[in-house]
Amino acid sequence: MVANISASDWSTDRGEAWRDSMTPLEAMLRPVNAPLIEALDLDRPYRIADIGCGGGETSIAVARSAYPGSAVDGFDISPALVDAAIAKEAYGDVPIHFHVQDAGQPLQEAAQFDRLTSRFGIMFFSSAVAAFENLARWLKPGGRFAFAVWGSPAENPWMSSLRTILSNHIVVPTPEPGAPGPFRYQNADEFASLLQRSGFAEISSESWKDKLAIGGGMDAEAAARFVLSAFSIGRLLDQSDQITARAASTDLVSHYSDHLIDGLVHMDAHVHIVTGVRSND
Ligand SMILES: C[S@@+](CC[C@H](N)C(=O)[O-])C[C@H]1O[C@@H](n2cnc3c(N)ncnc32)[C@H](O)[C@@H]1O
Repeated sequence: MVANISASDWSTDRGEAWRDSMTPLEAMLRPVNAPLIEALDLDRPYRIADIGCGGGETSIAVARSAYPGSAVDGFDISPALVDAAIAKEAYGDVPIHFHVQDAGQPLQEAAQFDRLTSRFGIMFFSSAVAAFENLARWLKPGGRFAFAVWGSPAENPWMSSLRTILSNHIVVPTPEPGAPGPFRYQNADEFASLLQRSGFAEISSESWKDKLAIGGGMDAEAAARFVLSAFSIGRLLDQSDQITARAASTDLVSHYSDHLIDGLVHMDAHVHIVTGVRSND
Protein backbone atom coordinates (compact mmCIF):
# COMPACT_ATOMS: atom_id res chain seq x y z
CA MET A 1 0.00 0.00 0.00
CA VAL A 2 2.15 2.82 -1.23
CA ALA A 3 0.02 4.67 -3.70
CA ASN A 4 -2.63 5.40 -1.06
CA ILE A 5 -2.01 5.10 2.68
CA SER A 6 -5.21 4.53 4.65
CA ALA A 7 -6.19 4.63 8.32
CA SER A 8 -6.18 0.82 8.47
CA ASP A 9 -2.54 0.74 7.28
CA TRP A 10 -1.71 3.14 10.11
CA SER A 11 -3.38 0.94 12.72
CA THR A 12 -0.94 -1.86 11.79
CA ASP A 13 2.29 -1.87 9.74
CA ARG A 14 2.52 1.83 8.90
CA GLY A 15 2.11 2.82 12.55
CA GLU A 16 4.85 0.39 13.56
CA ALA A 17 7.15 1.68 10.81
CA TRP A 18 6.55 5.30 11.96
CA ARG A 19 7.31 4.27 15.54
CA ASP A 20 10.59 2.62 14.43
CA SER A 21 11.77 5.90 12.85
CA MET A 22 9.93 8.17 15.25
CA THR A 23 12.85 10.16 16.67
CA PRO A 24 14.21 11.46 13.31
CA LEU A 25 10.68 11.88 11.89
CA GLU A 26 9.60 14.00 14.83
CA ALA A 27 12.82 16.03 14.76
CA MET A 28 12.26 16.72 11.06
CA LEU A 29 8.63 17.83 11.53
CA ARG A 30 9.22 19.85 14.73
CA PRO A 31 9.47 23.25 12.92
CA VAL A 32 5.78 22.90 11.99
CA ASN A 33 4.73 22.97 15.67
CA ALA A 34 5.29 26.72 16.17
CA PRO A 35 2.98 28.01 13.38
CA LEU A 36 0.42 25.32 14.20
CA ILE A 37 0.31 26.17 17.90
CA GLU A 38 0.20 29.89 17.19
CA ALA A 39 -2.84 29.29 14.95
CA LEU A 40 -4.58 27.44 17.80
CA ASP A 41 -4.80 30.71 19.74
CA LEU A 42 -4.24 29.29 23.24
CA ASP A 43 -5.24 32.48 25.04
CA ARG A 44 -6.62 30.86 28.23
CA PRO A 45 -7.02 27.39 29.77
CA TYR A 46 -8.53 24.99 27.25
CA ARG A 47 -9.29 21.33 26.75
CA ILE A 48 -7.31 20.46 23.60
CA ALA A 49 -7.32 17.34 21.37
CA ASP A 50 -4.45 16.33 19.07
CA ILE A 51 -5.83 14.15 16.24
CA GLY A 52 -3.59 11.44 14.77
CA CYS A 53 -1.06 12.38 17.44
CA GLY A 54 1.41 9.62 16.52
CA GLY A 55 4.21 9.50 19.10
CA GLY A 56 2.81 12.61 20.81
CA GLU A 57 5.51 15.15 19.98
CA THR A 58 2.99 17.83 18.99
CA SER A 59 0.70 17.01 21.94
CA ILE A 60 3.64 17.65 24.26
CA ALA A 61 4.56 20.90 22.50
CA VAL A 62 0.91 22.02 22.75
CA ALA A 63 0.82 21.22 26.46
CA ARG A 64 4.00 23.27 27.00
CA SER A 65 2.38 26.25 25.25
CA ALA A 66 -1.02 25.93 26.94
CA TYR A 67 -2.23 27.94 29.93
CA PRO A 68 -2.08 26.28 33.35
CA GLY A 69 -5.44 24.62 33.94
CA SER A 70 -5.52 23.27 30.35
CA ALA A 71 -5.61 19.55 29.49
CA VAL A 72 -4.39 17.81 26.32
CA ASP A 73 -5.68 14.51 24.89
CA GLY A 74 -3.81 12.81 22.03
CA PHE A 75 -5.76 10.34 19.86
CA ASP A 76 -4.28 7.88 17.40
CA ILE A 77 -5.46 4.76 15.59
CA SER A 78 -2.08 3.02 16.03
CA PRO A 79 -1.65 1.14 19.33
CA ALA A 80 2.12 1.04 18.71
CA LEU A 81 2.29 4.85 18.45
CA VAL A 82 0.04 5.45 21.45
CA ASP A 83 2.31 3.17 23.51
CA ALA A 84 5.33 5.17 22.29
CA ALA A 85 3.61 8.45 23.23
CA ILE A 86 2.71 7.18 26.70
CA ALA A 87 6.34 6.09 27.21
CA LYS A 88 7.63 9.63 26.75
CA GLU A 89 8.81 11.66 29.73
CA ALA A 90 6.60 13.83 31.94
CA TYR A 91 5.51 16.98 30.27
CA GLY A 92 5.08 19.77 32.83
CA ASP A 93 2.01 21.15 34.56
CA VAL A 94 -0.58 20.60 31.84
CA PRO A 95 -1.77 16.96 31.95
CA ILE A 96 -1.70 14.87 28.74
CA HIS A 97 -3.51 11.61 28.10
CA PHE A 98 -3.07 9.43 25.03
CA HIS A 99 -5.80 7.17 23.65
CA VAL A 100 -6.14 4.55 20.91
CA GLN A 101 -9.03 5.95 18.91
CA ASP A 102 -10.10 6.08 15.28
CA ALA A 103 -10.71 9.81 14.82
CA GLY A 104 -13.29 8.96 12.18
CA GLN A 105 -15.49 7.44 14.90
CA PRO A 106 -17.37 8.96 17.85
CA LEU A 107 -15.56 9.11 21.17
CA GLN A 108 -16.49 6.35 23.59
CA GLU A 109 -16.59 8.80 26.48
CA ALA A 110 -18.56 11.89 25.64
CA ALA A 111 -16.19 14.85 25.67
CA GLN A 112 -16.09 18.18 24.01
CA PHE A 113 -12.97 20.15 23.31
CA ASP A 114 -12.25 23.88 23.03
CA ARG A 115 -9.45 23.25 20.54
CA LEU A 116 -8.65 20.53 17.96
CA THR A 117 -5.28 20.27 16.29
CA SER A 118 -3.43 17.86 14.04
CA ARG A 119 -0.01 17.73 12.46
CA PHE A 120 -0.49 15.60 9.34
CA GLY A 121 -2.85 13.14 11.09
CA ILE A 122 -6.13 13.83 9.27
CA MET A 123 -5.39 12.89 5.64
CA PHE A 124 -6.10 9.17 5.86
CA PHE A 125 -9.85 8.83 6.55
CA SER A 126 -11.68 6.48 4.17
CA SER A 127 -14.85 8.63 4.34
CA ALA A 128 -13.54 12.14 4.77
CA VAL A 129 -16.82 14.07 5.12
CA ALA A 130 -18.18 11.60 7.69
CA ALA A 131 -14.90 11.74 9.62
CA PHE A 132 -14.79 15.55 9.70
CA GLU A 133 -18.49 15.71 10.66
CA ASN A 134 -17.55 13.44 13.55
CA LEU A 135 -14.58 15.66 14.50
CA ALA A 136 -16.78 18.76 14.37
CA ARG A 137 -18.89 17.11 17.09
CA TRP A 138 -15.76 16.65 19.25
CA LEU A 139 -15.51 20.46 19.37
CA LYS A 140 -17.76 22.71 21.44
CA PRO A 141 -19.85 24.99 19.21
CA GLY A 142 -17.59 27.92 18.35
CA GLY A 143 -14.49 25.91 19.37
CA ARG A 144 -11.43 26.40 17.17
CA PHE A 145 -9.29 24.00 15.12
CA ALA A 146 -5.85 24.33 13.51
CA PHE A 147 -4.69 21.56 11.15
CA ALA A 148 -1.36 21.21 9.32
CA VAL A 149 -1.55 19.48 5.91
CA TRP A 150 1.02 19.29 3.12
CA GLY A 151 0.89 21.55 0.06
CA SER A 152 1.56 20.12 -3.40
CA PRO A 153 4.29 17.55 -4.21
CA ALA A 154 6.00 20.17 -6.42
CA GLU A 155 6.37 22.41 -3.37
CA ASN A 156 7.51 19.55 -1.14
CA PRO A 157 10.60 18.22 -2.87
CA TRP A 158 11.78 16.83 0.47
CA MET A 159 9.19 14.10 -0.21
CA SER A 160 8.50 14.19 -3.95
CA SER A 161 12.15 13.95 -5.01
CA LEU A 162 12.26 10.47 -3.44
CA ARG A 163 9.39 9.38 -5.72
CA THR A 164 11.05 10.95 -8.78
CA ILE A 165 14.40 9.31 -8.15
CA LEU A 166 12.96 5.89 -7.35
CA SER A 167 10.76 6.05 -10.47
CA ASN A 168 13.95 6.09 -12.56
CA HIS A 169 14.76 2.62 -11.19
CA ILE A 170 11.56 0.83 -10.18
CA VAL A 171 7.82 1.03 -10.78
CA VAL A 172 6.30 3.41 -8.24
CA PRO A 173 2.48 3.41 -8.10
CA THR A 174 0.84 6.79 -8.69
CA PRO A 175 -1.58 7.89 -5.95
CA GLU A 176 -5.17 8.49 -7.03
CA PRO A 177 -6.04 12.19 -6.73
CA GLY A 178 -8.03 12.87 -3.55
CA ALA A 179 -7.38 9.39 -2.11
CA PRO A 180 -6.07 8.99 1.46
CA GLY A 181 -2.41 9.97 1.58
CA PRO A 182 -0.03 12.80 2.49
CA PHE A 183 -0.97 15.09 -0.42
CA ARG A 184 -4.72 14.59 -0.21
CA TYR A 185 -5.38 18.18 0.91
CA GLN A 186 -2.70 19.88 -1.18
CA ASN A 187 -5.41 22.17 -2.61
CA ALA A 188 -6.29 24.38 0.37
CA ASP A 189 -9.48 25.73 -1.27
CA GLU A 190 -10.85 22.24 -1.86
CA PHE A 191 -9.96 21.28 1.72
CA ALA A 192 -11.74 24.41 3.02
CA SER A 193 -14.84 23.47 1.05
CA LEU A 194 -14.78 19.92 2.47
CA LEU A 195 -14.50 21.31 6.01
CA GLN A 196 -17.34 23.73 5.33
CA ARG A 197 -19.58 20.83 4.23
CA SER A 198 -18.60 18.90 7.38
CA GLY A 199 -19.75 21.37 10.03
CA PHE A 200 -16.92 23.91 10.26
CA ALA A 201 -17.01 27.65 9.49
CA GLU A 202 -14.76 30.74 9.28
CA ILE A 203 -12.12 28.64 7.53
CA SER A 204 -8.88 30.21 6.44
CA SER A 205 -5.49 28.95 5.40
CA GLU A 206 -1.95 30.29 5.78
CA SER A 207 1.07 29.00 3.89
CA TRP A 208 4.10 27.95 5.87
CA LYS A 209 7.18 27.55 3.70
CA ASP A 210 10.61 26.69 4.96
CA LYS A 211 13.35 24.13 4.65
CA LEU A 212 13.11 20.88 6.61
CA ALA A 213 16.21 19.09 7.80
CA ILE A 214 15.81 15.51 6.55
CA GLY A 215 15.72 13.19 9.56
CA GLY A 216 16.18 16.24 11.79
CA GLY A 217 19.77 16.82 10.59
CA MET A 218 21.65 14.16 8.61
CA ASP A 219 24.40 14.05 6.02
CA ALA A 220 23.51 12.86 2.51
CA GLU A 221 24.20 9.17 3.10
CA ALA A 222 22.34 8.99 6.41
CA ALA A 223 19.44 10.96 4.94
CA ALA A 224 19.14 8.48 2.04
CA ARG A 225 19.18 5.52 4.47
CA PHE A 226 16.58 7.26 6.63
CA VAL A 227 14.04 8.00 3.85
CA LEU A 228 14.46 4.53 2.37
CA SER A 229 13.52 2.93 5.67
CA ALA A 230 11.05 5.44 7.16
CA PHE A 231 8.70 6.04 4.20
CA SER A 232 6.53 3.41 2.51
CA ILE A 233 7.66 4.54 -0.89
CA GLY A 234 11.30 4.08 0.14
CA ARG A 235 10.52 0.56 1.35
CA LEU A 236 9.56 -0.38 -2.23
CA LEU A 237 13.26 -0.68 -2.92
CA ASP A 238 13.43 -3.62 -0.48
CA GLN A 239 11.67 -5.68 -3.14
CA SER A 240 14.21 -4.97 -5.90
CA ASP A 241 17.53 -6.65 -6.67
CA GLN A 242 20.77 -5.44 -5.10
CA ILE A 243 22.11 -3.71 -8.21
CA THR A 244 18.90 -1.69 -8.68
CA ALA A 245 18.73 -0.85 -4.99
CA ARG A 246 22.35 0.33 -4.95
CA ALA A 247 21.91 2.46 -8.10
CA ALA A 248 18.77 4.15 -6.71
CA SER A 249 20.41 4.77 -3.36
CA THR A 250 23.50 6.27 -5.05
CA ASP A 251 21.27 8.65 -7.05
CA LEU A 252 19.50 9.68 -3.88
CA VAL A 253 22.77 10.39 -2.05
CA SER A 254 23.97 12.41 -5.02
CA HIS A 255 20.72 14.42 -5.09
CA TYR A 256 20.89 15.09 -1.35
CA SER A 257 24.52 16.19 -1.70
CA ASP A 258 23.22 19.17 -3.71
CA HIS A 259 21.05 20.26 -0.77
CA LEU A 260 23.48 20.53 2.12
CA ILE A 261 23.53 23.33 4.65
CA ASP A 262 26.44 23.00 7.07
CA GLY A 263 26.81 19.40 5.88
CA LEU A 264 23.18 18.44 6.63
CA VAL A 265 20.43 17.83 4.04
CA HIS A 266 17.76 20.54 4.00
CA MET A 267 14.93 20.66 1.47
CA ASP A 268 11.96 22.92 0.77
CA ALA A 269 8.57 22.21 2.30
CA HIS A 270 5.15 23.83 2.02
CA VAL A 271 2.47 23.29 4.66
CA HIS A 272 -1.06 24.69 4.80
CA ILE A 273 -2.02 25.76 8.32
CA VAL A 274 -5.81 25.61 8.12
CA THR A 275 -7.97 27.15 10.86
CA GLY A 276 -11.66 27.62 11.59
CA VAL A 277 -14.39 27.00 14.15
CA ARG A 278 -17.23 24.55 14.64
CA SER A 279 -20.41 26.00 13.15
CA ASN A 280 -23.03 27.04 15.67
CA ASP A 281 -25.49 24.45 14.38
C1 LIG B 1 2.00 11.28 9.30
S1 LIG B 1 1.65 10.61 10.87
C2 LIG B 1 1.73 12.05 11.90
C3 LIG B 1 1.90 11.70 13.36
C4 LIG B 1 2.03 12.92 14.30
N1 LIG B 1 0.89 13.79 14.22
C5 LIG B 1 3.29 13.68 14.00
O1 LIG B 1 3.22 14.71 13.31
O2 LIG B 1 4.37 13.24 14.45
C6 LIG B 1 -0.10 10.33 10.73
C7 LIG B 1 -0.75 9.85 11.99
O3 LIG B 1 -2.16 9.80 11.85
C8 LIG B 1 -2.63 8.63 12.48
N2 LIG B 1 -3.94 8.27 11.91
C9 LIG B 1 -4.21 7.95 10.62
N3 LIG B 1 -5.54 7.71 10.48
C10 LIG B 1 -6.10 7.90 11.72
C11 LIG B 1 -7.44 7.80 12.22
N4 LIG B 1 -8.48 7.46 11.43
N5 LIG B 1 -7.65 8.05 13.53
C12 LIG B 1 -6.61 8.38 14.34
N6 LIG B 1 -5.34 8.47 13.92
C13 LIG B 1 -5.08 8.25 12.63
C14 LIG B 1 -1.55 7.62 12.19
O4 LIG B 1 -1.60 6.47 13.00
C15 LIG B 1 -0.30 8.46 12.40
O5 LIG B 1 0.13 8.46 13.72
